[in-house]
Amino acid sequence: MSQYWSQRFAREGMIWGSRPSPSAGWAKQRFMEDGASSVLVPGAGYGRNTKVFAPEFTVYGIELSEAALELAAEWDPGTTFIAGSALQPQLVHPVDAVYCYDVLHLFLADDRRRLIDACLEQVRSGGLLYFTSFSDEDPNYGCGTELEPGTYEYKADKYAHFFSDGDLRGHFAGNEILETGSFTESLKNPQGGTHEYILRYILARKK
Ligand SMILES: C[S@@+](CC[C@H](N)C(=O)[O-])C[C@H]1O[C@@H](n2cnc3c(N)ncnc32)[C@H](O)[C@@H]1O
Repeated sequence: MSQYWSQRFAREGMIWGSRPSPSAGWAKQRFMEDGASSVLVPGAGYGRNTKVFAPEFTVYGIELSEAALELAAEWDPGTTFIAGSALQPQLVHPVDAVYCYDVLHLFLADDRRRLIDACLEQVRSGGLLYFTSFSDEDPNYGCGTELEPGTYEYKADKYAHFFSDGDLRGHFAGNEILETGSFTESLKNPQGGTHEYILRYILARKK
């Protein structure tokens, strides 16, 4: 997986442009209302979304791809980027909140559990978690070979897990689920066109 992303960042640079996801603004609002002052962004890419939080929060981004980390250092110098896997805890001190954009669906079941467990370990009790991921309402759901329930190789050598609302809630069982929902994300591609994805989000509080 790390090779796939490193090659894409090295070849395409800021793959999805510089505009952040609207979900980063929504999460930031909720984190501020909750009095949070530190945020962890696992799978932070080149900092497209960390930059939304950086002016008001102490922000840590965990990222595997060296190519993405080089771009991130320039694009968002306000965030502390940590080279390493988001599947293991990397922080010494817990943060107040986690924002994780479109990373959870990249993994098979065991690694999805590891990602969530690592995030829970790095957020304080009572802290917030805001995750987005592919939805089973997206047109790619059900395309290609099913590798595990809800996980499809929807393009050659590329798979993702597509979440129903119940499945997403189930991944965060044991925590207080504050809100879930869906939205359509519009992303710019390097060819200048746009591509729309249907995403789900969840806002939960660590118990
Ligand atoms: C779909 S991209 C999302 C990037 C970023 N969250 C954003 O909003 O622009 C997935 C990102 O997760 C990173 N990634 C994949 N596996 C990872 C892992 N085990 N640990 C840390 N980052 C990982 C990839 O390198 C890539 O930057």
